Amino acid sequence: MNQVPLAHKTALVTGAGGGLGRAIAEQFLLEGANVVICDINQELLNDFKEKVSAGYPECTLVLETDITKEDALDEIFEKAEKMFKKIDFVVNSAGMMDRFDPVGEMEKTMWDRVLALNLTAPAMVTKRAVNSMVKNEVKGAIVNIASVAAFRGFTSGAAYTVSKHGLLGLTKNTAVFYGPKGIRCNAIMAGAMETNISKSFQQTGINMEGYGLMRQTFPEETFVSVEVEKVAKLVTYLCSDSGSIVNGACWTADGGVTAN
Ligand SMILES: NC(=O)c1ccc[n+]([C@@H]2O[C@H](COP(=O)([O-])OP(=O)(O)OC[C@H]3O[C@@H](n4cnc5c(N)ncnc54)[C@H](O)[C@@H]3O)[C@@H](O)[C@H]2O)c1
Repeated sequence: MNQVPLAHKTALVTGAGGGLGRAIAEQFLLEGANVVICDINQELLNDFKEKVSAGYPECTLVLETDITKEDALDEIFEKAEKMFKKIDFVVNSAGMMDRFDPVGEMEKTMWDRVLALNLTAPAMVTKRAVNSMVKNEVKGAIVNIASVAAFRGFTSGAAYTVSKHGLLGLTKNTAVFYGPKGIRCNAIMAGAMETNISKSFQQTGINMEGYGLMRQTFPEETFVSVEVEKVAKLVTYLCSDSGSIVNGACWTADGGVTAN
């Protein structure tokens, strides 16, 4: 079996300083791809450089970036193309939670922040990704990290739910338009994973009524914690030739919690 199926490929992963994004970047490296990672958190990036890049010095480009800033996105793509010539895969993983607020209790500032990071930024990254792939004649793949909140009514507050529902629309629209040009786009609707994401609402406080409703979706007795390494393998599968038939798909990866 080919141990480095993604050799000579380059993957760009957003929010890869920690959490799921980091697991995805590590999986790409294991499968032989170069990785360009970006994150807003310098501490996590330093840790990535020390623990991951050190093992793959020629294959990693680590960039401190706020992906909600358009100029910053232009810079990432320029630097990535300069170092690796082309980008084959893009994974939109950076994201944040809201406070579990329903619409009636939601602050507009929270709505704006969540939509900017979870939906507008992936759209602007995808815009640059497809244009880069078309320009460089790359048959590429984009994977959007959505959530079970992308198809359920209350696993989070209104802002997060809407942002992830929207991400599925972006996924399907991109898949239909760019599939015939050789660029596939899929989404993974992940269940609960142990990452740093809860820090988002530790800073802002939490709406206990909303949190209680969320627990009805994920009751203690049937709770499944999804391993980030397994979601990462789904991502590289979707990018690989083995996944070439999959386009515009929204895959649930929640251990079956929402199947019922
Ligand atoms: N953890 C879960 O239970 C869960 C469940 C379903 C879906 N998801 C989704 O998985 C994805 C990854 O989240 P995670 O769980 O790994 O959380 P995480 O907080 O560990 O990772 C998100 C990363 O995004 C980075 N980030 C935040 N703002 C940024 C910005 N403006 N520019 C660049 N980077 C920025 C953070 O620094 C962080 O490292 C998110 O899209 C999230 O919505 C998470």
